[in-house]
Parts: sequence; C-alpha cells; structure tokens
Amino acid sequence: MSSPDLSYILNELGEDHSLHYGAVSPPIYQTTNFCFRDVAHMREALQHESSIPFYTRGTNPTIDVVRKKLAALEGAEDALLFASGSAAVAAAVMVHLRAGDHVVCVQKPYSWSNKLLNVMLARFGVTTTMIDGTRPEAFAEALQPATKLIFLESPNSTTYELQDLAAVAKLARARGIVTVIDNSTASPLGQQPIALGIDLVVHSATKYIGGHSDAIAGVVCGTHAMMERIFASEFMTLGGVLSPFNAWLLLRGLRTLPLRYERSCRTAERLVAFLETHPGVERVYYPFSETHPQHELARQQMTWAGGQFSVLLRTQAWDAVERFCNTLKRFLLGCSWGGHESLAFPMCTLYDSANYQAVLPFNLVRFYAGLEEPEVLIEDLRRALAAMDAVPQPAKPH
Ligand SMILES: Cc1ncc(COP(=O)(O)O)c(C=O)c1O
Repeated sequence: MSSPDLSYILNELGEDHSLHYGAVSPPIYQTTNFCFRDVAHMREALQHESSIPFYTRGTNPTIDVVRKKLAALEGAEDALLFASGSAAVAAAVMVHLRAGDHVVCVQKPYSWSNKLLNVMLARFGVTTTMIDGTRPEAFAEALQPATKLIFLESPNSTTYELQDLAAVAKLARARGIVTVIDNSTASPLGQQPIALGIDLVVHSATKYIGGHSDAIAGVVCGTHAMMERIFASEFMTLGGVLSPFNAWLLLRGLRTLPLRYERSCRTAERLVAFLETHPGVERVYYPFSETHPQHELARQQMTWAGGQFSVLLRTQAWDAVERFCNTLKRFLLGCSWGGHESLAFPMCTLYDSANYQAVLPFNLVRFYAGLEEPEVLIEDLRRALAAMDAVPQPAKPH
C-alpha cells in the first residue's frame, strides 16, 4: 500500500467533521440505542442493522469509523469489531462450521484459538487436524471431504513459523474451502493476506492497532457478504461486541500506527542483530533474520517482520533463565505486545500448561520491542545476559 493511501485511511476515511461541529477527533457515541423520527426511518435502520445505528450491539457511529478504516487497511470490503481478538477468532471460525465438519489448523496457534478448535468445537462434533504449516504439501495431505476451513497464523507469535499464504489460498479456493488467518503478529502494515487470496483476516486489535496497552479489542475483515453472514449469526447472537469507548481508543491508536509500528520493527531488527552475535544466545527467532528457515518467504510475503522476536538462551539451567529475566528492567515481564512498553514473556512461566510443554523450550523468551530508545533496550539485554552467567551470591546476613 502506498503512503498516500495510508494517510487517507488513517486521517480521513469514514469521517465527516461537519457532523460534529468540526471536531477533528470524532466523539464517542456513548449510547446503547438510537431513536427515530418516524416508523419508516426506524424500519430502515432495523432492516440494515449492521450498517445503520439502531442498537449499539449492532453498530454505532464511533464503531463505524473504525470498521471502515480497519477494512481499508486490510484491503477488505468490510470489517466487524469485537470485544477481544479471541471473540473475533471464534466468530470468524464458527460461522463456517457445523457438526461433522473438519478443520485444518497450523501447529502452535494462539493458545485460545487452539482451545476453540480442539476442545470447544470438538464438543459439537467438529474435528481438527493440526499440521506443520511450514510444509506447503501438508495442507493438501490433511484435506478431507468434510474439510470446510483452513486456519492460519503466519507468523505465529512465538516461534514465527510461516505459511505460504498465496499457495494455501490457491489450494483452498480450488476446493471451495474457506481460509482464515490470524494476522495479529504481522499487523495490517506488515502483511496483506487478502491480496494474497485469503478470505478472512482476524486481528487481536489489542496489539498494534490499539497500540497503547489500554483496550482489549478484535476485528474480522472480509467481504460484505461474509460480514453480513457473521453479523446475522455469531456477532449478534454471542454479542461479544466492542464498546464505543474502546472503539474510540482504537481510532486514537490508528492515527499513529505507522509511526509506532515502524519504530518497533526497526528497534526489533537492531536488538536481533545484537543478540545474534552474543555468546549467551543459542538462537534468535525473527522472520527477517537470515537464520530463520523461511526468511525468503517472509521477505516475499511480508513488508515488515514486526516488533516481536524470541531468544533461546544458551543455558540448560532454570535458575539462569530466571536470573536473566529477573535482571531485565526496561523490558517488563508480561504478555501481549504492540503497546508503548517493551515486554519479555519467558516460556518457563507456561510450564503448567500441558499444551506448550512439549513444543516451547523453558529457555525460550519472547520479546516485544516497544518505543523506548534501542540503546536503552540493548543495554538492558546486555546486563541480563551477563547476570545469566553470574554465580548466585549467598544472601547477606541482616
Ligand atoms: C496471536 C494472537 N491472536 C489472538 C489473540 C487474542 O487476542 P485478545 O487478547 O485481544 O483476545 C492473541 C492474544 O494475545 C494473540 O496473541
């Protein structure tokens, strides 16, 4: 996408200052319902509830602005906003499935997407085959006559495995199978799956789109027809919709998305370069790194690799991993990403979770590069890596 398009989307699309006394920041329509001057207008709104404000579980003017911008950012016709990324994933997946259907899903998706497919939908007679999505032939091998959906997460958020999106889309289209991708790790600026033929794009808008670590939100982008179908089923029935206030926070976040995202990506690149040469590091996972087994595919289908990367520490000692993490000061220990603050998520904290035990080593730490100066973050990593090797000192007597 060229930058004039981006500027238009982020600053103008969906907005009409003349409706709001010239306010450059559209107001938060903090209302549940809307009233009508006569029956004809009320009927019109009710019959087009997904696009004309009638009741805020359907849509609302503040939400509408953000829907238009997010759809345009993904090159989609329409978008629906949800109260969380998980609600968005659930709606985008469930709308296509009934008992007896089969799903193909890539290994190591976000944990709650995994639970949706392998636990919740399994209760209703949907089966899922988990595949190694880095092998393009694995998709065709896993297809069954009952396959209705392929669920993708490229890159995934901790080990950054990719799928060849154009190839998967081509295969799925030829068989009438719907493709859904969780594009949260790349963001709409890092990857444009719809242009590659993917049907539905989902984001945890909590991440880069909101960008300030203050609003949980989700979005599904696709055709008008598909959004109407989701609206009339999962969206209105399950009701996991976004509040007008949180929609406004997304709008505020969108104004600076390119600045924040580019800063985070560039900082991540510098941190990766530092870590790749450090003796305390066994391996760095980052899609654009030359050591990433799919870096050529990453450069082909992504414009940026994002602000996240993971580090396998060169130690087999649990206490060394914990010492490393506990020494970090500028990277906060926490989950998520996409906000102002740099974060470290040690996989050793997951070790009660049976799902992850086999696949993610305890000495792996996922990082997110926030908006701090890169030098400050490099220094933090340098200190923490030095602490990893330090012999623990006995506590001083009081
Ligand atoms: C890749 C991915 N998808 C979806 C979600 C769910 O998003 P939310 O937390 O907004 O529900 C997350 C949350 O961390 C995630 O990491």
